[in-house]
Amino acid sequence: MDWRIDLQESDKEIKEHFASIGKLPKHIAIIMDGNGRWATERNQNRASGHRQGIETVRKIVKASSQIGIEYLTLYAFSIENWKRPAMEVNILMSLLEHYLKAELDELHANNVRFMTIGKSSSLPKAIQRLLIDSTEKTKTNTGLTLNLALSYSGRWDIVRAVQMLALDVRRGTCSPEDIDENLFSEYLSTKSIPDPDLLIRTSGEMRLSNFLLWEMAYSEIYITDKYWPEFTKVDLYEAILNYLTRERRFGKTSAQVQDNTQQVNISYLQRVINAIKL
Ligand code: FPP
Repeated sequence: MDWRIDLQESDKEIKEHFASIGKLPKHIAIIMDGNGRWATERNQNRASGHRQGIETVRKIVKASSQIGIEYLTLYAFSIENWKRPAMEVNILMSLLEHYLKAELDELHANNVRFMTIGKSSSLPKAIQRLLIDSTEKTKTNTGLTLNLALSYSGRWDIVRAVQMLALDVRRGTCSPEDIDENLFSEYLSTKSIPDPDLLIRTSGEMRLSNFLLWEMAYSEIYITDKYWPEFTKVDLYEAILNYLTRERRFGKTSAQVQDNTQQVNISYLQRVINAIKL
């Protein structure tokens, strides 16, 4: 299905207005939390929460692509998640495999570039193969970059970067004096993508959970009480709208960061979003 055609009038209006403002977050990162609680509250097993979570992934990837987000990073499985019961880990791995097999053609047809970050060597071999093939197949696409964080943790990535940097110093390809923030970033697994502008976390928890620790130094944080399985594209629009109201100062004063770009008509956008909710 061509996602450009499959847009409702209200979505088009939002997309056009977001585009005209020119301040859309380039990169959105999401901590998809609350699958288990969503299921438990419905007397279902945790697996059904994860299955429903995949449905949300499908919708949010599509909506992000449709409104022109350039990078979407989803925290799908942390290194700490390996400590969950083996049965739950197996279910998550098979859902991931199923998702990729089922969605890859549609992602590719819609110009999505797929990539992953994380300790992929810990993943089952069949999944490693699938990730390599999916990345390879979509590597020249120019639309949304969908980045799955799999067997990932921020501290793991930082330590790995330090090890590789230390090796380069030992080899003599760089010296300790060369090391600055830009050079260090080049050693992280996120080197090819910009830092997230906006972090969304579902289910009301207020922590980073070892996600993109270096990269989120200046990300705006948006937390919603909704569980991931019930998060919708309208919730995504609300998060972006909220982001548009933030003043990003990066350590400067408010007066220093005043710009002349078009003012965001928040109340108009809120009306359009409310109309979709009805
Ligand atoms: C958090 O809910 C969610 C996860 C640990 C995994 C997220 C995975 C998916 C949505 C499915 C796989 C994803 C992709 C991209 C194929 P939780 O289990 O911690 O919920 P709880 O805190 O309510 O127990």
